[in-house]
Amino acid sequence: MYPPETIQTARLVLRRMVPDDAEAIFATYAQDEEVTRFLVWHPHRSVEDTEAYVASCIQAWDKGTEFTWAIRKEDEALIGAIALRVTGFKADFGYVLARSYWGNGHMAEALRPVVDWALAQPTIFRVWGVCDVENLASARVMEKVGMTREGILRRLVIHPQMSDTPRDCFCYSLVK
Ligand SMILES: CC(C)(COP(=O)(O)OP(=O)(O)OC[C@H]1O[C@@H](n2cnc3c(N)ncnc32)[C@H](O)[C@@H]1OP(=O)(O)O)[C@@H](O)C(=O)NCCC(=O)NCCS
Repeated sequence: MYPPETIQTARLVLRRMVPDDAEAIFATYAQDEEVTRFLVWHPHRSVEDTEAYVASCIQAWDKGTEFTWAIRKEDEALIGAIALRVTGFKADFGYVLARSYWGNGHMAEALRPVVDWALAQPTIFRVWGVCDVENLASARVMEKVGMTREGILRRLVIHPQMSDTPRDCFCYSLVK
């Protein structure tokens, strides 16, 4: 089951990642400690780190295990990425946006069609996502696309820039 390689929204184009995206991702957000604060990965130190990440995204798409789109503004600037993992009857997602684009509704706009696509698949019944309990912007993104907060999954994920020990996360879902 493969999603569309390109998804158009009012202001954005989501399109499958390509090797050439590494340079823009490195320059735009992958080195930013503020951006990676609530993520499972450390800021990238060299463009080789980003190239390896992009290569893993491309490989995972080919295998059908995880689908990562680069998020572009209509002017073609690469501003972030969004990924969907399908596991049987469930799908979960992750996303990241360059700091200078925060606070303008971009991620809710990108997430909505991804969630819609997942729930439109006859075999997917649950779409869900988690975020650190301190990541209120991310929690709000999930609320804005109509997801329900199910509760807190305790000690779920290590966000290495927050702590060496696992963090509590809000869990949001949409089901059919
Ligand atoms: C989380 C992230 C993707 C949000 O992207 P965005 O495009 O700024 O999100 P949106 O503009 O669609 O929505 C953000 C909402 O959170 C709100 N918000 C932002 N910071 C907030 C805070 N500290 N407390 C409460 N609400 C906050 C905004 O007001 C907005 O809600 P509103 O539209 O009702 O006003 C972006 O901040 C990011 O990339 N962060 C770093 C990576 C990350 O944390 N990814 C998620 C991992 S789970």
